Amino acid sequence: MNVPIGIFDSGYGGLTILEQIRKLSPKYDYLYLGDNARAPYGNRSFEVVYEFTLQAVQWLFRQGCRLVILACNTASAKALRTIQQKDLPAIDSGRRVLGVIRPTVENINKITGSFHVGILGTQGTVTSHSYPLEIGKLFPAVFVESEACPMWVPLVENNEHDKPGADYFVKQHIDNILKKDTLIDTLVLACTHYPLLEKKIREYLPEGIRLVSQGKLVAESLEDYLRRHPEIESECSKNGTCRFYTTESEAKFASMAALFLKGEIEAERVNLEDAG
Ligand code: DGL
Repeated sequence: MNVPIGIFDSGYGGLTILEQIRKLSPKYDYLYLGDNARAPYGNRSFEVVYEFTLQAVQWLFRQGCRLVILACNTASAKALRTIQQKDLPAIDSGRRVLGVIRPTVENINKITGSFHVGILGTQGTVTSHSYPLEIGKLFPAVFVESEACPMWVPLVENNEHDKPGADYFVKQHIDNILKKDTLIDTLVLACTHYPLLEKKIREYLPEGIRLVSQGKLVAESLEDYLRRHPEIESECSKNGTCRFYTTESEAKFASMAALFLKGEIEAERVNLEDAG
C-alpha cells in the first residue's frame, strides 16, 4: 500500500504548515484538505469543531491516508485527543492523527530566555487551555499568558491581512498580551493562519521579543516521527506531489492558495458530510 500523507485545516492556514513540511520532506505525496466552507472554526463550540474535524479525518482516511496531520490549532486543541483515544481504535488502530500543539510546546524551553511565554490563538484554542496545560506538563517553570485574537483569521481568510485595516486588530492584541505579563520574551503564533500576519505583527513588537511560527517545528517533528515509525513511513508514497481539496469553490481556493504558497495550484471541491 502506497498512500499520501493527509494535511487538514479549517481553511488556508494549514498551507503555512504544508509549505514547511514539503520543504523539509519533499519526497512524500501530500493531500491537503481545507474545510473553507465552514471556516473559521475559532469561535465554534467544542462539539462542532470535533464533529467537523472527525468528518475531515474520515474523508482523508477514505482517500487512503494512513497518517493525518491536523495543521490547525483549534482542531488540535478541541478534537485531537478524542479522535486519538476514542475514534481511532474504533475506525482503524493502524491509522494515526497528529496535531500541531505538541511539536510547538516541546521546543518552547529552547526559545524563551525569561521563561515567560505568550500564546496568540483563536478563541477556541485559548479557552481550551491546551497550551498552558501542555507547557505545564513539560516545563512547569514556564509562565504562560494567552490572548485570543478572534479577528485575525477572518482578516487572513478575506485577504485583508496586509491591508491598513488589519493594523488596529494586530496592535490591539500585541499590546494586550504584553501588558498581561511584562516579562514575556516569546510570543507563539498558535494559529496556522497567523504567519500571514507576521510582517504586521513585527511592526508592533518591541525589540527583543521572539516570534514563533509553527511550520518549521511541525515539519521537523513529522520528519522525526516518520524516522521513528518505519511501519508508517514505508507505506507513504514518494512521488513529491500534492493534491488540494476544499469544501468551498475550487476557483476561490486556488486563487487564495496562490497567495499563501506563492505559486499556482489546482483544487477540487469535496463534500465532507457525504460518507460515500
Ligand atoms: N488555522 C487554524 C488554527 O490554527 C484555524 C483557525 C480558524 O478556523 O478559526 O487554529
